[in-house]
Amino acid sequence: MAVDVLLGLQWGDEGKGKIVDVLTRKYDIIARFQGGPNAGHTLEFENIKHVLHTIPSGIFHKGSKNLVGNGVVIDPIIFKKEVEALKKYGVDIQESLLISRKAHLILPSHRVLDAASEASKGKNKIGSTLKGIGPTYMDKTGRNGLRVGDIELNDFKQRYDALVEKHKQILSHYEYTDYKLSEMEAEWMEAVDFLRGLNLIDSEHFINKAIKENKKILAEGAQGSLLDVDFGSYPFVTSSTTMCAGSCTGLGIAPTRIKEVFGIFKAYCTRVGSGPFPTELNDATGEKLREKGHEFGATTGRPRRCGWLDLPALKYAIDINGVTSLIMMKSDVLSGFETLKVCVGYEYKGTKIDHLPYSIDDELVKPIYKEMKGWTEDLTQLENYDDAPQTLKDYVEFLQQELGVPVTIISVGPNRNQTIHIENHPATA
Ligand code: GDP
Ligand code: IMO
Ligand code: MG
Repeated sequence: MAVDVLLGLQWGDEGKGKIVDVLTRKYDIIARFQGGPNAGHTLEFENIKHVLHTIPSGIFHKGSKNLVGNGVVIDPIIFKKEVEALKKYGVDIQESLLISRKAHLILPSHRVLDAASEASKGKNKIGSTLKGIGPTYMDKTGRNGLRVGDIELNDFKQRYDALVEKHKQILSHYEYTDYKLSEMEAEWMEAVDFLRGLNLIDSEHFINKAIKENKKILAEGAQGSLLDVDFGSYPFVTSSTTMCAGSCTGLGIAPTRIKEVFGIFKAYCTRVGSGPFPTELNDATGEKLREKGHEFGATTGRPRRCGWLDLPALKYAIDINGVTSLIMMKSDVLSGFETLKVCVGYEYKGTKIDHLPYSIDDELVKPIYKEMKGWTEDLTQLENYDDAPQTLKDYVEFLQQELGVPVTIISVGPNRNQTIHIENHPATA
């Protein structure tokens, strides 16, 4: 059986958590393939609002296995808190949560290094979530990292001490002294003990066996394509492969196993952290989007920057991911905007282009907008696409034509139930 992939097409926070939760009933296994506690995936159902950081968003469905893949980076302290928060909902963690031994560990000193690196960059800082993501992936590719499987080894503490020693040397180069490692370490070691008691597995074997047994698997991405380390707005990106290819390396599955690729985008656009954002609205309209959409980070609480939908960026993300099905989120937030703007190209160095150029720095790229009539109707109670306002249908139709991929789901509110399946697409029906 094939693997389906679900990922964000913008700068993250598109609503991946909600849709994974909606789709989980159709899958046996939900597998996170990259990122770590920089992610915040929000789920809402039965008056519960839950934010998951490292744990896959299928965890609330009895019967689904949730795998934290080898491409993920885990902070044991945050992980322990997440697991403990789930217990009160009756989630059987031993039964439903599996963790790859090859996933890398975020050490307290990685978090300190993240803070030191950001401080050293001054006004050019990335706007990192400060969860230690960059330094941990650097240690992974630099072949210094510690992995989950290492906590089962007798010499784990020596390995830990050796890595921390390296980190201290780097910190001394930064001349960064604003930390007390010993206090953070005690809690971390306790959380490592907790992690040791969970279901640690050789996940690449598990997942390939599941494929052979015709199990249905959904790979859940974190962040978004414009934060991808290769194809995002570098250097203002995260440190992992957020695109579809990351599901292969982050789970140990072959590209030939991938079938559907669900690409999620907001009906507008947001970004949190630094970096270029061509369609950003630094005005009352941007403020209205932020207020109506409650655009504040699920992990850091930071206000998200808001702007209009950017089609060249979306086309780019669709291409690099091979998206087969589009999911449009937060359609309800656009209710009440008389005119909607959609970026259809850019003025770039004096010429008009319709693709994403090498650099999208604000001074180089000016968006060209198409204006469309908005809708006034409240969408949050909408149950059927046929009953949607014509102006919303026109918006969706225009996007499908421009992007060349069907929009199969639109979301009209944060709740699991506020989800509209547009057509009998085999993957979403
Ligand atoms: P993720 O990181 O992609 O999982 O997205 P986040 O959870 O960080 O951010 C999405 C936010 O939008 C969360 O607060 C969701 O509860 C909320 N949300 C998701 N879909 C919708 C929607 O269709 N309408 C509205 N109004 N909110 C939504
Ligand atoms: P989800 O999965 C939105 C952003 C940070 C920063 C940059 C690098 O919830 O969509 P990092 O901590 O990774 O070094 O930060 O990436 N960022 C996200 N923005 N959603 C996320 O995850 C993000 N994860 C990281 O704000 O600009
Ligand atoms: Mg998020």
